[in-house]
Amino acid sequence: MRMRLKQELFLQASITMLENDIPSTITIVRTISDVKNILKLWRNDNLNVGLVPTMGALHEGHFSLIKKSLSLSDRTIVTLFVNPKQFGRNEDFDKYPANELSDIKALENLSVDIIFAPSTEEMYPSGNITNISLPDIGDLLEGEFRPDFFTGVATIVCKLFMIASPDLAFFGEKDYQQLIIIEKMAQDLNIPVEIVGCPIIRSKDGLALSSRNVYLSDNERLVAPLLYKVLNEILDNVRNGEQLIKILNNAKIKLLDSGFTKIDYLKICDDKNLKELGNFSPNARILGAAWLGNTRLIDNIGVN
Ligand code: PAF
Repeated sequence: MRMRLKQELFLQASITMLENDIPSTITIVRTISDVKNILKLWRNDNLNVGLVPTMGALHEGHFSLIKKSLSLSDRTIVTLFVNPKQFGRNEDFDKYPANELSDIKALENLSVDIIFAPSTEEMYPSGNITNISLPDIGDLLEGEFRPDFFTGVATIVCKLFMIASPDLAFFGEKDYQQLIIIEKMAQDLNIPVEIVGCPIIRSKDGLALSSRNVYLSDNERLVAPLLYKVLNEILDNVRNGEQLIKILNNAKIKLLDSGFTKIDYLKICDDKNLKELGNFSPNARILGAAWLGNTRLIDNIGVN
């Protein structure tokens, strides 16, 4: 009881005013030391902790991860941090569509315990030079087109694991390679966290939800669901025993003929090590990345 009171007083003290001095009913923590202090109190109460790392620009896909965490954890931390380290030089860091105020408002409707929204300086103070990189698996697929991406992701996620020491951490299968890489990193570095992969959330027309979908023009938005449709057609054709190379080539042609402007990759890979498969296997994942104008879409489906 005393502990609970102490905890509540601490939390009230760290409630943050939002822009224009609007008080938030949710606890927003800006510093690593505040997160650690709150965690100490939770640990004293033997509460288990779920972590949902995000870069904001929240949508139903993120909400599904948060709901999963709320259902499996005593306490849930959602992070809002647009991680500069995972953006390439010509990528969209400067225009990433995160809006902290609207993200916090959205999170107020879910009973998350704290939002950790640090500054870049808090996460990467000057002189911070350590990177975590996963050669091989990090160089495939997305890694081929976004060379620093997984180093950025693995480094920030590792830091968040060290800060929040969660029992569970939640990631969407939309970024399937990211999920596999984070599992591998946690395993290799003996980080005692259970990684929970959560299914892709899609619009009614099949388009996988992504913060970057807002970049699509009205016309591109109409074409975008074709990527998911094509992944499913690949699966049907593979099951019918057609030749893999032929199936993938036809699928690329269909995307390009229908308005996609460039295909980065369309591959059938082992679902654990992501090596490209020459023959169909029940342990496969079909993954694709393709451009519609200036917007890059990624998607994937499992085969069973
Ligand atoms: O998937 C994302 O939003 C980001 O890559 C993550 C995991 C939050 C790390 O910045």
